[in-house]
Amino acid sequence: MKNYVTRFTLKQRIEHASVMTLFLVLALTGLPQKFFEASWAQAIIGALGGIDRVRWVHRAAGILFTVFTFTHLGVISALVVTGRAALSLVPTRQDFLDAIQQLEYYFGMTDAPAKFDKFDYKQKFEYWGLVLGAVIVIATGLVLLFPIEATRFLPGEIVPASKLAHGNEGLMAFLVVIVWHIYNAHLNPDVFPFDPTIFTGKISAKRLHHEHELEYERLKENE
Ligand code: HEM
Repeated sequence: MKNYVTRFTLKQRIEHASVMTLFLVLALTGLPQKFFEASWAQAIIGALGGIDRVRWVHRAAGILFTVFTFTHLGVISALVVTGRAALSLVPTRQDFLDAIQQLEYYFGMTDAPAKFDKFDYKQKFEYWGLVLGAVIVIATGLVLLFPIEATRFLPGEIVPASKLAHGNEGLMAFLVVIVWHIYNAHLNPDVFPFDPTIFTGKISAKRLHHEHELEYERLKENE
């Protein structure tokens, strides 16, 4: 096996960079609207050119985010149905067993940490958290974008309820990304201070062996 292995294709890296950029734009233009009374929120709104522009940018980024999410889900479903993509991100019974074994390892109750395949249980949890969170912000964002159309077939309460759910889900998603995702992907002791894999697409064979031993063994066997 070579010293470096391809972990992410160019398409996956572009997809990650696009979602990352859109998510930051949405947080930067959404959260100051939620906390509009705070001085930091007023400073951000002022720096971005005023509330009208902030709302416009948030709505445009929201529509793009919606298109990206549905394209991702449509393409991945088509690839899975036609047998061209593996279900490497779908949680299995083994992920629950791995989580238990890993906890036992952290508490010193066993000497062997769990061995992972392409994605470990934490990465799968993050992926599905993002998908479910995206479905919530998109559904509620569309109600806020088209309140009159939405209340043609849904009760009027859906508009304030969507506003509350949208803002709180947006805040939670932002905090999860800052605390959980950035720690897992960059700040954890294995890769501190920064893991460039999602940007370069490459992972060293040494790290692949350490973090995704089952995948490493499979790639070695197929060589
Ligand atoms: C991760 C993505 C997103 C985050 C973090 C986010 C965050 C927020 C926050 C915090 C607010 C303020 C809510 C309040 O005042 O209580 C807001 C408002 C809003 N968001 Fe989002 N949002 C996201 C995605 C979306 C999407 C996908 C859409 C459209 C489909 C959207 C459309 C809207 C609309 C229409 C408003 C009302 C603001 C206005 O009147 O212009 N957002 N968002």
